[in-house]
Amino acid sequence: PRHFAIVPAAGSGSRMGAVRPKQYLPLLGRPLIHHALATLCAAPAIDKVFVVLSVDDAEWARHDWSALGSKLVPLFCGGATRADSVLGGLRAIADEAAQSDWVLVHDAARPCLASWHIDKLIRELAGEEVGGLLAVPVADTLKRADEQRHVVETVARDSLWQAQTPQMFRYVMLRRALETAREVTDEASAIEMAGLRPRLVQGDATNLKVTYPLDLHLAEWILHNRRG
Ligand code: CTP
Ligand code: MG
Repeated sequence: PRHFAIVPAAGSGSRMGAVRPKQYLPLLGRPLIHHALATLCAAPAIDKVFVVLSVDDAEWARHDWSALGSKLVPLFCGGATRADSVLGGLRAIADEAAQSDWVLVHDAARPCLASWHIDKLIRELAGEEVGGLLAVPVADTLKRADEQRHVVETVARDSLWQAQTPQMFRYVMLRRALETAREVTDEASAIEMAGLRPRLVQGDATNLKVTYPLDLHLAEWILHNRRG
C-alpha cells in the first residue's frame, strides 16, 4: 500500500491569539507549517503530502513552497472543525487513494515532527489491520474534580497516554469513521467509535502541538537545538 499524508491547516489559532493563524507565524525564519511539511515531503515512505487549507486562505499563495518538491499538494477544502477539514481532504483524494492505502494525518501545528517519528510509526504499524498513532505516556498525576473543584479521585496514570499526530489509518476505514463521527478531535476517536482499536506507538514530547504562545518558544528551542 502507499502512504499519503494529510495535513489539516485550516484552523484560526484562536488560543494563540495572534494576528494571523498560527500555521503561518514565523518560526526560525519560515512559516511554522513549513517545518512539518518539509519533514513529511522528505520522508521516502510518503508518496504525497496534501495540505488542507481554508477555502478563503489568503496566505498560502504568498509563500514559496517550491523547495518542498512535487509531493506537496494544497487543497482549499477546509471545514468548520478539524474533523471536517480532514474529511474534506479524504474526499478530495478519493480518485487517487486505494481503499487499503495508508493515510497519515498530521497537525500543521506540530512543527517539530522528526523523520524518526514517521519511520517508527510506519514500521510499528505495518503489520496492523487498523492502524494507530503516536502517543506519549502521561507524566503528571491526574485529578478528577467536581464542579466546585473538589477532588473526586486521582486517576491512575499508568495506562494513560497523550495522543499526538501523525495518526495513521487505512483510507477507507478512516473515511467511513469520519463520515459517521463528526464531533471528534482526532482520527483515533472516530476509529474507536467505529468499534476498532487503534494501536499506540510511543513518540516523545518534542513533537508538541503549538497551541499557546509558550509552545512557540518551546518549538523554536527544540528545532534550534536539533539542528545543532
Ligand atoms: N484545523 C483545521 N480545520 C479546522 C480547525 C483546525 O484544519 N476547522 C487544524 C489546525 O490548523 C491545526 C490542527 O487542525 O493544524 C489542530 O487544531 P488546533 O491546534 O485546535 O488549531 P486551531 O483550531 O487553529 O486553534 P484553536 O483551537 O486555538 O483555534
Ligand atoms: Mg482548534
